[in-house]
Amino acid sequence: MALLKILHYPDPVLSRVAEPVDTIDAALRTLASDMAETMYAAPGVGLAAPQVGISRRLIVLDCTPKDEPRQLYVAINPEIIAHSGTLFEEEGCLSVPGYYARVERDEEITVRFLDLAGEQHELTTDGLLAVAFQHEIDHLNGMLFVDRLSSLKKSLFRKKYKKILAQLEESL
Ligand code: NI
Repeated sequence: MALLKILHYPDPVLSRVAEPVDTIDAALRTLASDMAETMYAAPGVGLAAPQVGISRRLIVLDCTPKDEPRQLYVAINPEIIAHSGTLFEEEGCLSVPGYYARVERDEEITVRFLDLAGEQHELTTDGLLAVAFQHEIDHLNGMLFVDRLSSLKKSLFRKKYKKILAQLEESL
């Protein structure tokens, strides 16, 4: 088990479309468990492999409230196969530290993915977990939540984020 370094926007890996996983082997299982450990330590509710510099279609998520037992999802090659409704929720991202914004998402989704045993799952979910799946799958397509902002909001984000990054570098 190891904590991985989380890349920050505008690292170019974050805007790359990730490659499908074709082999579920020991290296992938280690990566998934290190990603989960890194997500819990951050703390965060989701992490995609490109955020730790691996351009592969693998995500981990856990949206359970703090006082409930953990429910970790490891999703390989996840795909949204159905969606309905719309909601606006405030989102943040471990790769965009210190910035939060409301983003439009599907309210309910059905997502298809493989687990670490190679078993296929189809999960229909809504609320926070549905938003987290959409956010993490966006990462696999080289997209961050700030890419979903209007152009006005995105230019405000860029100005604010420059200051956030400068402060972050000072504190290192
Ligand atoms: Ni993110």
